[in-house]
Amino acid sequence: MHYKRYAYIHTIGCQMNVVDSEKLTTVLNARGFGYARDPDQADIIVCNTCAIRHKAEEKAFSFLGQFAREKLKRPGLITVMAGCVAQQEGKKAFKRLPHLDLVLGTQAFSRFSRHIDALTSGQRKIVDIGPSDVIFEAMPDDTGFAENKVSKFVTIMQGCDNFCTYCVVPYVRGREKSRSQESIVNEIRLLADNGIREITLLGQNVNSYGIKEGGISFAELLEKVAQIDNIRRIRFATSHPKDLSDELIQAMACLEKVCNHLHLPVQSGSDRILKKMNRGYTKDTYLSRVDAVKTAIPDIALSTDIIVGFPSETLPDFNETMDLVARVGFDSIFAFAYSDRSSAPAAKFSGPVDEREKMDRLNQLLAFQDTITLKKNQQITGQVVEILVEGISTRQHDKFVKTTRHTRQMTGRSPGNKIVHFPSDTIAAGDLVNIKIENAYPHSLWGRPLEQPSHEK
Ligand code: 5AD
Ligand code: SF4
Repeated sequence: MHYKRYAYIHTIGCQMNVVDSEKLTTVLNARGFGYARDPDQADIIVCNTCAIRHKAEEKAFSFLGQFAREKLKRPGLITVMAGCVAQQEGKKAFKRLPHLDLVLGTQAFSRFSRHIDALTSGQRKIVDIGPSDVIFEAMPDDTGFAENKVSKFVTIMQGCDNFCTYCVVPYVRGREKSRSQESIVNEIRLLADNGIREITLLGQNVNSYGIKEGGISFAELLEKVAQIDNIRRIRFATSHPKDLSDELIQAMACLEKVCNHLHLPVQSGSDRILKKMNRGYTKDTYLSRVDAVKTAIPDIALSTDIIVGFPSETLPDFNETMDLVARVGFDSIFAFAYSDRSSAPAAKFSGPVDEREKMDRLNQLLAFQDTITLKKNQQITGQVVEILVEGISTRQHDKFVKTTRHTRQMTGRSPGNKIVHFPSDTIAAGDLVNIKIENAYPHSLWGRPLEQPSHEK
């Protein structure tokens, strides 16, 4: 289709933002904007922003800042700040970005279409950070399948009611709300009909799905989604350790399509810090939930989020975190240096940790986890792992290039979310194949297919 106008969307932040950007693209498409691969070709530039840490927020300001000069050359160019930083800043965003045309908060996404019309008819400097009763939903259209044809994220809830003291999410994304099971199932059916084989259900705390609304539980939702034809794998994120139910653990153990991978953010291993973070569990209760999961699903892959340098964190506190990491044996971790967010309560806590000390602790933690990850990967060597193929690998593997130079190298993921490369000329994206793992690397595995892909059988 030929378009008269084009939109460019730049996304910063989490998987939820990736989904929101796809939905904003759908809205733009319905308003007659094609998808631009480059900001130079765009008539409207949207930056979907993240406020979780200072660095992410700075990225948003510097990305949008670039277009001040471009707008002098092209006065018709429209620039939009959308998402979490927009919700947080409101009209203050104009102080640093006077050339901005629309500040669209997370709660205002459902009114985006109306604002596009206002902008195209010449209105400028619009701010919408007002509340919303409805959940922003837009069913996927053709624009949504441009990048990834195998795996997609589906947001099942918005916002958060947990108020961890370091976190801006409850302030910038609002109170927790769950989508209806019907709209979630309809969306996933549509994705499956368009070739998607794996979906990841997203929410800040999927364990409380539907509780407020009195609907089905998250475990029951998993069961419903598992019944959808052509969906071969189901993942989800994030589970809050305080709400991880036995029902969910059982559902994971019983439902074949649900991958044996659990992302369970711990944040800290120190009881004193966990209390200050308002996390609602102790190191011991976290470890006992992990034990329950490991007992029910022995081959579970575990990942987590950790913050180092939370206000007043001492070396003994940090060592409790290191000890927890050693005891759990995570397959991977996401670790962050604590970042002050002015709207979150911890910004007022005493005992800030020196920036250099934070970085030292972060590096120590990451180096330690690297040794664990490599060990875990090495344990998989010799095993046969089922891979969902994502496509042709962008990185050529040294060993592979030497041994099988004329064959394509493909890439996919194991149920535990490990990246696996393998040679094949016949296996295609979307296939499920058994790969015998021959080599382990810090961030990936390498193996060979045992058989023909399941679509050829
Ligand atoms: N500083 C550093 N990391 C943070 N996170 C959330 N808020 C902050 C903050 N203020 C981390 C948490 C969360 C992940 C998404 O981001 O670990 O789980
Ligand atoms: Fe933030 Fe805590 Fe909610 Fe996660 S559970 S989004 S860390 S407030």
